[in-house]
Amino acid sequence: MNDPVRFEKPIDYVERWRSLVRAREDQGHRLDPMHGRADHWAGDRAARFRRMTARPGAADALIDLIRPLIGPESSVLDVGAGTGRHVLPLAHLAAKVTAVEPSAAMRTQLEEVVRENGLRNVEIIAAEWPGARVEPADLVVCSHVAYFVAEIEPFLREIDRVNLGRAVVVLRHTQREVAILDLFQRIWNEPRCPEPSFSDLYGVACQLGLYPNVTTIPFTVPIGFETIEDAISMVRADLLNPSGADVERVIHDYLEERMVRRDGKLRFAVPPTFAGALWWEGKS
Ligand SMILES: C[S@@+](CC[C@H](N)C(=O)[O-])C[C@H]1O[C@@H](n2cnc3c(N)ncnc32)[C@H](O)[C@@H]1O
Repeated sequence: MNDPVRFEKPIDYVERWRSLVRAREDQGHRLDPMHGRADHWAGDRAARFRRMTARPGAADALIDLIRPLIGPESSVLDVGAGTGRHVLPLAHLAAKVTAVEPSAAMRTQLEEVVRENGLRNVEIIAAEWPGARVEPADLVVCSHVAYFVAEIEPFLREIDRVNLGRAVVVLRHTQREVAILDLFQRIWNEPRCPEPSFSDLYGVACQLGLYPNVTTIPFTVPIGFETIEDAISMVRADLLNPSGADVERVIHDYLEERMVRRDGKLRFAVPPTFAGALWWEGKS
């Protein structure tokens, strides 16, 4: 009799990653009438992302993790910097921050953050990773970016190449749409294709011989809405913009049942979620 363990093929984590990203991409292409837009963050998405992630004065788990590594002489590279959630605190700690960001809508917000805070040590590079021309840095951070990247090997290899001291790549353990997965199934009659999560990233990194360390951090984006209409607008986009006479009411009823008002904002009543920070030393 065959031994099922002995004959099982080892998992190709790089291929598994590619399949996950492509399947999700294909689902978006098939279902979402907005999928083809050139900039995923255009419209009000970038501004909303900034509002949700900017929490002046509040602790940030990634910054807390890397703060001891940064001195006034340090150079930091932020890959997929978004609207500058980490660029702002990093610019106060380090000598120089290079922010790589391909989305024009995100860059507009990031430029505003840099201008409004009078930051003089931030360079913004309009490019995708890998491919951006940057100097190696003492610290390379990449927070909540890799979900969208089908070719994860060159992405991580390039981070490794420019890593002089420490690279830190952060990804959620749970799915982004965790609070509405059953609603997605109900509306489309199929499950939402999952994005790659932290355990997939760990498998990839080990397969590539990076043998990283892992720190678990809370995932604390406090998604809160002023009104139910605001919540419906974001949830509708996360549901891939379904249409139909009934959709608005179905989303409305679902949210009314599951959202609670806390600190003046409407929030999903979901248990705390976590992200993983994958980190490894550079070759300097
Ligand atoms: C969810 S946001 C995270 C932003 C920021 N790192 C944070 O944690 O607040 C993801 C960002 O990654 C950017 N991004 C997506 N693919 C990228 C790529 N291949 N190279 C660099 N940035 C990318 C997006 O434009 C977006 O700004």
